[in-house]
Parts: sequence; structure tokens; C-alpha cells
Amino acid sequence: MEKYLHEHPYIVRDWGLKIIEVICIDDQIDATNEALKTAFILTRKFSDLVLTLPPHTSLEANVEEKLKELAKKINLKIVLLSDDQAPFSLDFAENFNSTEDAVLRLKIAKISKKISREFAEITPFKSSALDLLQMTSNPAVSFSDLEEKIAHEPLLIARIMQIANSAYFIRRSKAQDLDQALAYIGIDGFRQVLVQLIFHNLATRYFSKQKNLLNHAEAVSYLAVKLAGRISEDTKLLAKIRVAGLLHDIGALALQYCFAEEFDKVCEIQNQSMITKVMAERKVFGLDHCEIGEKLCFGWGMPAYLLCCIKEHHIQPSGRFAEIIEPVVIANAFLNKEIGHLPDLDYLPLLEKYSLTESNAQTEVKNFLMTKWLEFKEAALDQID
Ligand SMILES: [Fe+2]
Ligand SMILES: [Fe+2]
Repeated sequence: MEKYLHEHPYIVRDWGLKIIEVICIDDQIDATNEALKTAFILTRKFSDLVLTLPPHTSLEANVEEKLKELAKKINLKIVLLSDDQAPFSLDFAENFNSTEDAVLRLKIAKISKKISREFAEITPFKSSALDLLQMTSNPAVSFSDLEEKIAHEPLLIARIMQIANSAYFIRRSKAQDLDQALAYIGIDGFRQVLVQLIFHNLATRYFSKQKNLLNHAEAVSYLAVKLAGRISEDTKLLAKIRVAGLLHDIGALALQYCFAEEFDKVCEIQNQSMITKVMAERKVFGLDHCEIGEKLCFGWGMPAYLLCCIKEHHIQPSGRFAEIIEPVVIANAFLNKEIGHLPDLDYLPLLEKYSLTESNAQTEVKNFLMTKWLEFKEAALDQID
């Protein structure tokens, strides 16, 4: 966030996330200029520095070595409007025409790096989730390939057997071994198991203190499945909706986990100015939870429908995977607007196709969602008791 620390003969602005800006004020800047001295001092506390040269300023030749030295100490970005402002090449640091662009670039790189590094261990089992998910996206993969790969993963095998033998896959005979169980649930089912285990691991290992967001994810998942269940009995589709609901805000969970202080600011801005969470996040982070969530899940090799839902759950669903995304979008907007009293998209027109009545379709579905929400809340309270 912007904070003015000094005013003369340079300005220092703290952009948060350890990004600092030094704005030069003097017309001519030589190697002894106070702005540069301050920049060197700031390298002790900050990791990224934006040096801004307003149009009236220009560098003298003896500054070149100083700046090169500075670039070795800190991730340096230089903002200037014209090459005439420097009598030497500035190719040792990235140049920008505006501070906002420079800060945004730094923020995005920082956030993405921290988040991917933080969640390196996303699976509760030995094999990498990435390997397994990528393996399953190869059309040539066979059940025996999968069996071989997960032979030493008791947790995964147990879950696959449990699902294959659940009421969900009603069969005459129970699956006796892994081969049979995989045949029952299919590659798609296997991917669902993986994604669910990954989410469960993330939720318990990393996000366990973020009760509000986890509870929201569960609620969205519950409502989305109930809503879709009104017009479809396709259990595979409903299973995907359940997972999409659970993971839709994974980007927000990751942002809150990695940048708790900044995330509090997002909530503060959101409550004060009644703007959407996406807009408030862009103000603070330069990007939103939809973008970061999609990036994160893409890196993990998550299925395409999930990437799409994570990226597009705050906008009107448009075509691709709409039957999965739409119920999630509706459940999410319903909870944000009606329960959280926060701005979100106008979901009412989307309700009509889920109605069981000809007239008052929107109201009928909205009442249904409210009833289901109360059911969900009661069940959650029972669990606490
Ligand atoms: Fe969201
Ligand atoms: Fe959400």
C-alpha cells in the first residue's frame, strides 16, 4: 500500500510485499545523490526496488556503476519515460514506463513464486500428484500402468476400493481387487479420487486455520450439487460439481495462507467500499484469487473443468463445462449476496432452468437454495456439538 515516508529530495513509497519505490526529485542525478544513497540503505530491508525517474530528471554518466551495483544487491526496476534521461544503457535492470506496471510485474512474480513454493507438498502419498494426474491425462494410459504406479500407495488404494464399493457405483458384485476397482470407477473416477485427496490434504495440512473459507467451500459444494441434482441424476457429473465447488476458491485459500496480512486488507477494502472480492484483491495484490487459483492448479495438472471453474466462477458461465460451472457460480453468488451481503454477479436469471415450477421460477429456486443452506448450517452445527 502506498505510504509516504519522506518528501524531500526524494520520495519513498512502500507498496507492500517488501516492494519499495524511490522517486527521484532532483533534476540532475549524480552518483552522490541522496536518492541513490537511500536506495542502497533500503536494500537491507526490502527485496525489490523500483527507482522512478520522473520526466524532468536525468541521470549523469557517473551513476551507471552505482546503479549496476544496486542491481546486484536488489531486484531493481527502473521507471522512466524516455531513453534521453540516461546517457548510458539501462539493460542491467528491467525498464518500465509507469510505476504501476513495474509494481504489478513484481507483485505477480512474487505471489506466484511464493504460492507455488509453499504448496510443493500437496499430496498425502509418496507419488507426486502431478505425475499421477498427468499420467491420467494421457489417453494411452492403461489400468495396469496406474496399478503399477500406485502399488505402494495404501491410502490411495484404500480410497479407490472404498469408492468403487460404495453405493455410488451400484454393482452386483463388489470389487475384489484394485484392477476391478479401477475398472469400476474409470480413469475419470480415479482423477476425482486424486483431486479429492489433494484437497483434503491441503485443507488439513495448510488451510486448517482458515475455517471461514473452508466452510464456504463446503457450502458452495453442497448447494451446487443439490441444485444440479434437481435437473440431473448423472452421478459422475454431480461428483465433478462437488469437487469444483470444493476447489473453486483455492486461490483465495492460497492467498490468505501466504499473505495473511494483505488478505485482511482485501476484506477491509471489500467491506468499506462494497466492491467485489476480485476487485479488492486486484487493488492489493495486482491479481485476483481466480487467476492465482487457476495457475496453481494448472501447475498441479488438475483436470480442465476444474481450471475453468476456478478461473470463471465470478463471471457468467460461457459454454465450456457450463453444466459443471453454472451450479458453482450460482451457489457462490447466492452465498456471497444473500448470506454474506457482499456484491457478486446477478445470478437470478441463471436460476430458471433449475426450477421445478413454471411460474415464479427464480423465487422458487432461491427459496430452495435458502432451505438447503439452512440444512447445511444445521448439519455443520451438529458436527460442532
Ligand atoms: Fe471466489
Ligand atoms: Fe467462493
